[in-house]
Amino acid sequence: MNIEDCRLLEFPQRGDERGHLVAIEGCGDIPFEIKRVFYIYGSDRNVVRGRHANNNSEFVLINVSGTSKVKVDDGRKTKIFDLDRPHIGIYLPRLVWKDMYDFSEDSVLLCLSSEHYDAGEYIRDYDSYLEIMKKHWEEENA
Ligand code: TYD
Repeated sequence: MNIEDCRLLEFPQRGDERGHLVAIEGCGDIPFEIKRVFYIYGSDRNVVRGRHANNNSEFVLINVSGTSKVKVDDGRKTKIFDLDRPHIGIYLPRLVWKDMYDFSEDSVLLCLSSEHYDAGEYIRDYDSYLEIMKKHWEEENA
């Protein structure tokens, strides 16, 4: 895993004069089988959510309403993505550290995950994350 594996996904908009429709399918538009869906709303501009990495879960995040930003970190580099259109998502592989912030008042951040919820696979301490990633890079370079 490295930061370049985090990428924007653009979904087809099937709009007509009645409005817009975006359809996304697991193992197609989303690069994994979707096992869990949750959504985040009611967070304001000065809130930072996330602040964790996952040992097993991959995610796609979509602001289906409003806007937010996602800062991703692989222990070596960081990158900021703007989620500002309902047909744009960001794919996050396992082991990426993520902060979600700068939520607009109307932000509804839809999160699709490759795994069922397991609190034990969350890495919530940044120093522990850096240790894990140090080993990860050493193994990759071995
Ligand atoms: P948390 O991981 O802190 O949210 P965020 O990633 O946005 O910072 O989760 C908030 C609460 O919701 C926490 O008590 C765990 C619970 N939760 C579930 O029960 N299932 C889930 O799928 C998720 C993502 C969280």
